[in-house]
Amino acid sequence: MKIVVLAGGLSSERDVSILSGSKVAAALRSKGHQVVLIDVYMGYEGDDFDTDRLFAQNYDFAGDAVIETEAPDIEAVKKSRKNQSAGYFGDHVLELCQAADITFLGLHGGEGEDGTVQAALELHGIKYTGSDHLGSAIAMHKGVTKGVFLNSNVPTPMSRLYKREFMGEGYLDSWCKFPCVVKPCSAGSSVGVQIVGDPEQFVAAVGAAFRYDDDVLVEEYIKGREFSVGILGGKALPVIEIIPRDGWYDYENKYQEGATEEVCPADLDENIAKKMQAEAEHAFETLRLKVYGRVDFLLGDHNRLYCLEANTLPGMTPLSLLPQEAAAAGIEYADLCEKIIELSLL
Ligand code: DAL
Ligand code: MG
Repeated sequence: MKIVVLAGGLSSERDVSILSGSKVAAALRSKGHQVVLIDVYMGYEGDDFDTDRLFAQNYDFAGDAVIETEAPDIEAVKKSRKNQSAGYFGDHVLELCQAADITFLGLHGGEGEDGTVQAALELHGIKYTGSDHLGSAIAMHKGVTKGVFLNSNVPTPMSRLYKREFMGEGYLDSWCKFPCVVKPCSAGSSVGVQIVGDPEQFVAAVGAAFRYDDDVLVEEYIKGREFSVGILGGKALPVIEIIPRDGWYDYENKYQEGATEEVCPADLDENIAKKMQAEAEHAFETLRLKVYGRVDFLLGDHNRLYCLEANTLPGMTPLSLLPQEAAAAGIEYADLCEKIIELSLL
């Protein structure tokens, strides 16, 4: 097959995406596919664009993909763009996708995950992996996700949605108890998320979260164990437990090797694990997601289960959770990538 892997882009998860995309491209090449890996925002920068040659060469834009301890500076990325494209897609990206059998979305966050890229590809008649534009848009916004969860009885922590335009005197309403969790509604990999313990920290954290998003979610803090459940073809994979060695599962603990211990299958009572898997499938379906994804949970006191969110383009780096869960179910990484393609083409 001819496959384009899209990665990079303009979100705060750009570096994570480049690593995900590089691993996916390498795995698909190992299966004999012709794979072009391209930074969707930078596009093809040479003056000798030729799709047949690029597929024959397995063209690869990425060098060594590395994730730093902090999310990248997107303004610096914009300045480094060499081509003259006016929009989100760099030069020749759509032509490459149109010449391929399928486009594998290695993107995370921003336009790559919120349905914008999905809608653009749909309008160009391009087949791509994962959920469609509407499911992606619903799941990307944590406030919209909450509304859907509440309507469909998916258990989830209490929360309030804060809009930038309502900020000002008295916005810290009586609902809020400390500690609580402040999250930009549409960021991923915990970028901009803070756990705060008092009103002063709250004001600073909400202000910081508005740097990433116009909508901010404030959620009750649930003390408990953290789990995630991958979904493949609508069915739950084995549950994974996430145990950071220090602090909580923030950007650094997600991507620095050795910072977090992951246990899969999780050491959990079988009934609780089954309940979590059933809730994951229910959340996935109720958000109208397709093909694959990953649903995150907390397990609080008295084994009370809370669903936090669903990720439509979960990380595919070597430390990522979904590939570990697939491995626990006997699905090797390269087979997982092929399976995602196969399910997306149905
Ligand atoms: N947003 C990151 C990539 C994840 O959910 O795995
Ligand atoms: Mg997420």
